[in-house]
Amino acid sequence: MEEATWDQTELSVGQLAQRSGVAVSALHFYERQNLITSRRTAGNQRRYRRDTLRRVAMIRIAQRVGIPLSQVSAVLSLLPDRRTPTRKDWERVSACWQADLDERIRQLQQLRDDFTDCVGCGCLSIDRCRMANPHDELGTQGPGPRRLLTRTSSGPR
Ligand code: FES
Repeated sequence: MEEATWDQTELSVGQLAQRSGVAVSALHFYERQNLITSRRTAGNQRRYRRDTLRRVAMIRIAQRVGIPLSQVSAVLSLLPDRRTPTRKDWERVSACWQADLDERIRQLQQLRDDFTDCVGCGCLSIDRCRMANPHDELGTQGPGPRRLLTRTSSGPR
């Protein structure tokens, strides 16, 4: 496979895999999920517009932070199909993530900072739990770590 040059406007699947660091099988999966698209050459080979690299990067990063593919797909569907997305297009997509990412960041910070205390999960395994969650009273409010969930705006995922 020939390495993609910087001025190449279309990439083969091998070049897309090589530059994105994503396996060809994963790229085919993304395409089946309509997350990325290609055109076919006369020889029935896939060709991807170069901006597909940015879509793949976004998919990978979204996956890494736990955003479901269905949500990624919904957001990517806001991008134009037939032209390279502009900065404005990407800004619109970015805005869709804002609230969700803010909430995830908040939860991760909470995990970092608060997981040494009782979270109200019903385990009663930490010495302070008897005081913080006597007889697992928080269990009457519903399943899960009640102290963490009541501090979140969106509840369990
Ligand atoms: S940490 Fe589980 S009930 Fe306190």
